[in-house]
Amino acid sequence: MKEYKVMDNVYLFNSYVDAIDLSFNQFLVLTPIPMLIHTGAIDRTEVLIPKIQEVIGSSPLEYVFISHFESDECGGLALLKNYYPQIKAICSQITARQLMGFGITSNIAVVNPQDKMKIGDSLFEFISYPSEMHLWEGLIMVEANQGILYSSDLFIRTGTIQKSMENSAINEEIQNINLHKVPSQEALERLKRDLSALHLNYLMPGHGPCLKLF
Ligand SMILES: [Fe+2]
Ligand SMILES: [Fe+2]
Repeated sequence: MKEYKVMDNVYLFNSYVDAIDLSFNQFLVLTPIPMLIHTGAIDRTEVLIPKIQEVIGSSPLEYVFISHFESDECGGLALLKNYYPQIKAICSQITARQLMGFGITSNIAVVNPQDKMKIGDSLFEFISYPSEMHLWEGLIMVEANQGILYSSDLFIRTGTIQKSMENSAINEEIQNINLHKVPSQEALERLKRDLSALHLNYLMPGHGPCLKLF
């Protein structure tokens, strides 16, 4: 697992899996109330926890954002709760229902699209994200002050990351989301419309390098 400080207040933890030629990202956002973006699958969470402790010391990890219900996004949640019992999982209603089915019922903060959450100096806003499994409603999250979109499985790249931050054009990135990624014309158009309305400076995807936008 490689660690990069991609912004003054954002750390990236990246692990490459050779067998599927894909790297997996978790982000630690210091707001200054710390928030983790995705747990990684449980073997990644085991490696991640000491790295989080190196950054935040004995401070509690207050929040974990889970964009949708898949092992790389939340597979390590139960393990994380052993270390940070008070941690609140921020997720959609459908993700919360899935977590309940795995016995995780406490400290779940359900948010809806268009909700806003001020944490420390940061203002987080949530956007509906039709995630792959049955097009279930997941969420992506924008930090509005810095224009950072934590985009989950959107805007991802395969392969290893050469640089933690690459440049890209937001219009092209949005145009390139296709029916393969969101297999419903209606959901795809709604997503593209929602994304186009945002004022973004950075994309922080769940796989591959971060993207600085122009
Ligand atoms: Fe996913
Ligand atoms: Fe993912």
